[in-house]
Order: sequence, then C-alpha cells, then structure tokens
Amino acid sequence: MPTKQELLKQPIQHIDIKQHNVVALVDAMQHMAFSSRDLHRAASIYERMLLDTDCGVILCLAGSMVSAGLKQIFIDLIRNHMVDAIVSTGANIVDQDFFEALGFKHWIADDLLRQGTEDAMLRENMIDRIYDTLIDEEQLRFCDDTTEKVANSLDPRPYSSREFIRAMGAYLEQEGKVPEKGGVDSIIHAAYQNDVPIFCPAFSDCSAGFGLVAHQHARQDKPKVSIDSAKDFYELTQLKIANPTTGLLMLGGGVPKNFAQDIVVAAEILGNDAPMHKYAIQITVADVRDGALSSSTLKEASSWGKVDTTYEQMVYSEATLAVPLITGYAYHKGAFKARQGKRWSRLLEPVTA
Ligand SMILES: NC(=O)c1ccc[n+]([C@@H]2O[C@H](COP(=O)([O-])OP(=O)(O)OC[C@H]3O[C@@H](n4cnc5c(N)ncnc54)[C@H](O)[C@@H]3O)[C@@H](O)[C@H]2O)c1
Repeated sequence: MPTKQELLKQPIQHIDIKQHNVVALVDAMQHMAFSSRDLHRAASIYERMLLDTDCGVILCLAGSMVSAGLKQIFIDLIRNHMVDAIVSTGANIVDQDFFEALGFKHWIADDLLRQGTEDAMLRENMIDRIYDTLIDEEQLRFCDDTTEKVANSLDPRPYSSREFIRAMGAYLEQEGKVPEKGGVDSIIHAAYQNDVPIFCPAFSDCSAGFGLVAHQHARQDKPKVSIDSAKDFYELTQLKIANPTTGLLMLGGGVPKNFAQDIVVAAEILGNDAPMHKYAIQITVADVRDGALSSSTLKEASSWGKVDTTYEQMVYSEATLAVPLITGYAYHKGAFKARQGKRWSRLLEPVTA
C-alpha cells in the first residue's frame, strides 16, 4: 500500500488571473456560438456591474471551488474591490480556505484514484477524496478543532456566521497565519482586512459544524456559542436596504444562490422598495430538468421578483473553466479601478473609534 506521503505529493496550485491577460480571447468568443458566446456576455455583464460604482457585488460560492484552485481569484477579487460580500457554503470557507490558511494543502489525485476503485485504500490512509483531489483527514480534524478553539474564545451568545467568520479572520491575524508573517493568503483574512462580510447560511454543514458540536457538548448547560442563520439573513438584507443596486456572481448554485436572491423579497417585507438584483451571472453544470433551485434559470428567478432580466446570463460550464476567463476579463479591462471598497462589514458593525 502506498504511504500517505507518496499519495500527497503534488499540490493543487491556485490560478493567478493577474498573470494571464484573457481579454482578446474572451472578446473573440463573442463571435462564436453556444457557451463561448454566453461566457463573453457574462464577462461583459460582470465588467458592467463593476463599472456601475453604485452596485454592490455579491459573490456566491457552492461546490468545491476553493480546493479546485480558484482561491487566489477570490482573494484578488476582494483585494481589488471586485466583490463586496460573499455568500458561500461552509465547505469553501472553512474546510478549504481556513484549512489552507492553517498551513495545509489540497493534493492532486492521479487518474487511477479518481476512478474510485482505491477509495478503501485511501480510507486506510485517512485520506479524503473530492473527485480528483485529495485531503489529509487528520489535517481536516485539526481544522475542526481550531474552529472549536475560536468558538471557545468568544462570549457565549448567538452569532451570525458573518460574525464568527470575522472572528476566524482575527484568529489568523493573532496567530500570524498571514502572508506578512510567512503564512499563506486566504479569503477569510483578505475579507477581514477589507471589511468584506462573508456569510455561510448553512454554517454547521462543514468542518465548523464539528467544532461547534464539540464546543456545545463541552458546555452542556452552560451558556454557549451558537449560529443564528436568521441573523445572517437579516444582516444581508440590511446591506440590500442600504445599497439597493446589487449584482450577483454565482458559482454553482445551492443555498448561497437562493439566500442571496431572497434578500430582495426580505427587504420588501421590511417595508423597503428594494429593486431586484440588477445584474446576475450563474456558472453551473446543473440541468434545468430537475426543477431544483441550483438549476433554475435566472429568468425563472425574475418570476419570483428576485432578478432583473436585462443583465442576466447563465453559463453552462464547469466553474474552473469559466471563472478564470470571466473574472480575468473584468480584471484586465480594469473595470475595478474606479471602485472603492464598500467595506460592508463596517455597516454591520459600526466603527465607534
Ligand atoms: N466537498 C464538498 O463540497 C463539501 C464538503 C463538506 C461539506 N459540504 C457541504 O455540503 C453542502 C452542499 O454543498 P454544495 O452546495 O456545494 O452542493 P453541491 O455540490 O450540490 O453544489 C450545488 C450546485 O452547484 C453545482 N456545482 C457544483 N460544483 C460545480 C462546478 N465545479 N462547476 C459548476 N457547477 C458546479 C452543482 O451541479 C449543484 O447544482 C454545503 O453545506 C457544504 O458546506 C460540502
């Protein structure tokens, strides 16, 4: 049986859009057909939403985007004010981004391993598999334990996931797990520094869930930290009310897609005349026939009063192909240059100093 060291040899390397100018390539795609033309339109809509400096851009992440090599893109979007809030699954933010910030890596699985015939051997080695990517489960346990440590350090009360993730950013800073101190850059820390709120509406459904379960078990009847997803929804809705023009860049689908779309309706319920999301892009492989949320088109979302139909585009592509092109296009066109960071976290936690 191969050893863990032999299996975990080749790390996933995150693509750097700054190094690859794709503008000419994506522009040429507008004269083609099918998905390439859709992709060009999506890239143009993303550029347009960035040029609209009133627009608050919400990035939605489902699927395994961070472990797949897209992490540096999300960091660059944060640092260049190309995103104002993130709504994500916990897996992307905790199991994958926080995990890497703690010093761990994701590894490339060879062709034989991705066929699934060797999964029992991987289990014996305590290695987890995401299709063609491998993770050291012992390191993931350390990530679970660290979220428990963060929970233990907080005043026991209900928190929005945004507040908890901000505390994770503060933890990385305190522990020196940041580039300035020899650590690796992370979405959580970049967002912490740039006051970009991150929401994980199903926060317990990831590594953080294990940490929180352990925290609550240890506390028994004593006051404890808990996650309040209604508070998340209220906070995100407050951002929509304060900044009515919004655009969505959605990768995958899942809970983040609906959660971010629903703030239009929530704002309305709170007595505000909030417009639908003005811009919306979704990149997905989901097929519309199942009637599921993940696969539903943005036109369908307009029937629910959530997304305007003028600037919307579905792109049917696996995200690792489409995201570098769409974001790289907007980056190299300089669409972000006139934008200031909206620093939405400050709106939710007013700075008193
Ligand atoms: N490996 C993991 O993804 C993982 C690990 C731990 C926990 N979880 C938890 O499981 C729950 C469900 O996760 P999810 O919402 O990511 O579910 P999901 O994998 O069902 O993805 C949601 C939708 O996004 C689409 N999608 C996913 N990856 C894509 C890609 N690369 N390109 C294009 N489209 C893609 C899917 O087709 C699906 O329609 C979450 O709460 C998450 O935190 C996931």
